[in-house]
Amino acid sequence: MAGSLRAVTGKQLQIGVLARRMQSIPLTARTVLERASGKSIFEARYYRESQLSRLANLFAHVDVEKWRGMRVLEVGAGLGHLGDAFTALGFDVTSTDGRPEHVEAMRARGRESFVLDLDQDGVDKVGDYDIVLAFGVLYHLAKPQEFLRSCGVTAKVLLLETCVCDDREPVVKWVKESSGWLGPDQAVSPNGCRPSPAWVEKTCSEAGFRAVRDISSSIGNWTSGRFDWEPHSTGEWSRSGYNLRKMWVCER
Ligand SMILES: C[S@@+](CC[C@H](N)C(=O)[O-])C[C@H]1O[C@@H](n2cnc3c(N)ncnc32)[C@H](O)[C@@H]1O
Repeated sequence: MAGSLRAVTGKQLQIGVLARRMQSIPLTARTVLERASGKSIFEARYYRESQLSRLANLFAHVDVEKWRGMRVLEVGAGLGHLGDAFTALGFDVTSTDGRPEHVEAMRARGRESFVLDLDQDGVDKVGDYDIVLAFGVLYHLAKPQEFLRSCGVTAKVLLLETCVCDDREPVVKWVKESSGWLGPDQAVSPNGCRPSPAWVEKTCSEAGFRAVRDISSSIGNWTSGRFDWEPHSTGEWSRSGYNLRKMWVCER
């Protein structure tokens, strides 16, 4: 008994030491190490941090109780971890992604899921959903305007989170997508974008959302993403090692 306790305590100590060592490794190197060990990008430490902080920011700013009974469509879901939070709250959630391998992984763990490439099909073409949960995907799209328009046709609520550029004007900066760290598991299209907050708000309003509420706050911040950045209209989308991001609740 005492021997096995010692063994467990010894193992915990080793894990603690390893965790502290991992902390001191720079973010990029740590992520490369995690990916090399076979982890999906969605399981990497910085990514888990981003999921928790963004969900915390969202739930700090909305009263999900008033949406009870609404059907949720998660788009660009990755492995569907954000949708899991809504499932846990009792929502009927369908999660989609442009990459078949992510959809397969979601199905394997019993999630309602199908392939939906947002540059090919609008969300208005795939069924009746009340809430569209679109976190971390708008900036991967070559046709962001078409996607937002399709949300306006069908959704009562759009929960939107994305990388943006710091421009006062309603503009979209077009970018070439990279294929992701140690594996092409992110962008579907070779072209992505960094819209300005003014562009997103204008496009959502024109799509039919009466209330477009910016709920970005420091609660959502993580190691490499920030929501509480100061606008200087420099046109940049990355500053001091972090990406500029925004989150909105859009309601019809
Ligand atoms: C940064 S991850 C976001 C995952 C999750 N929504 C989150 O915020 O943590 C981007 C996801 O969007 C998906 N994606 C990229 N382009 C897409 C497209 N054109 N249509 C649908 N999904 C796309 C990728 O496969 C990836 O799973």
